[in-house]
Amino acid sequence: MSIFKRKKPEYTDISQIQLPEHIGIIMDGNGRWAKKRGLPRSAGHTAGAQTFRKIARYCSNIGIKVLTVYAFSTENWRRPEDEINALMKLFKDYLEESIRDFKDDSIVLKFIGDRSVFSDDLLELMTENEEESKNRDGMVLNIAMNYGGRAELVTAMRGIAGDVRDGKLSAEAIDEQLISDYLYTKGQPDPDLIIRPSGEYRTSNFLLWQSAYSEYVIMDVLWPDFKEEHLNKALIEYANRNRRFGGV
Ligand code: FPP
Repeated sequence: MSIFKRKKPEYTDISQIQLPEHIGIIMDGNGRWAKKRGLPRSAGHTAGAQTFRKIARYCSNIGIKVLTVYAFSTENWRRPEDEINALMKLFKDYLEESIRDFKDDSIVLKFIGDRSVFSDDLLELMTENEEESKNRDGMVLNIAMNYGGRAELVTAMRGIAGDVRDGKLSAEAIDEQLISDYLYTKGQPDPDLIIRPSGEYRTSNFLLWQSAYSEYVIMDVLWPDFKEEHLNKALIEYANRNRRFGGV
C-alpha cells in the first residue's frame, strides 16, 4: 500500500457528490441589490423573498434534509420602521401562501428565534404553519425570525438553570449534547454547510453553537441574484473541502 494518502477526486457536478444534510443560508445583499437599481430597500427584500421561495424548493427537490434561512435577526430591529414593516408584510404573505397553496407539500416548516415579539396575526400564522406541516416527511425548513445565536444560548442557559433549580436536572448532566437539546434546533443535525452570498465574511450571530464545524462558503453574488447554479457551485465547493472536525 502506498504511504501517500490518496488524493480526493475533484468534484465538478452535484450528481457525483454526497450532499450536506443541513444547509444554512444568510440571505444577504437585498439592500445593495435595490440600491444598485435606484429602488427602495424594501424592493430588494421582495426580490429576496422570491429567491428564497425558489431556493427552498430547489433544496427540497434535490434531497436536502434541513435548510435554515436567516430571515430576520435580533439586530434587524435597528432598521428604519418602513423597512421592518415591509419585511413583516413579506413574512405574512409567505405564511399565508404556504397555508393556502402548499397543502400537498412535503416541507416541514419551523420557526426558530424569539417569536414573542411578533404581532398576533403573524404568530397565529407561524403556529398554523407548524401545525399543518408537522407530520410531513420532507425537508425541514427552519425560518430564523428574531433569531440571534447569542440570544438562543441565553434562552438555553436560562432553561437549563431553571431545570437544575427545580431538581429536574443535575449540574453534572450538563454536556454538549444537553446544551444542543435546549436550542431551537433540538433533534436536528448541525449545519454542514453555511452559504453567505454578498461577499461578507461574517457569521452575524447565525447558529453560533451549531456551526462549530460548519463549512462556510462566501459567494460574490447578492441574494436576489442567487440562482440554483450558485447553490450547485457552493455544494461542489463543500464536497471538495476536506472536513476534519479537529482531527488530521
Ligand atoms: C439581509 O440583507 C436580509 C435581510 C435582513 C432580510 C432577509 C429577508 C428576506 C430575503 C425576505 C423573505 C423571507 C421570507 C422567509 C419570506 P440586507 O438588507 O442586510 O442587505 P444589504 O447588506 O445589502 O443592505
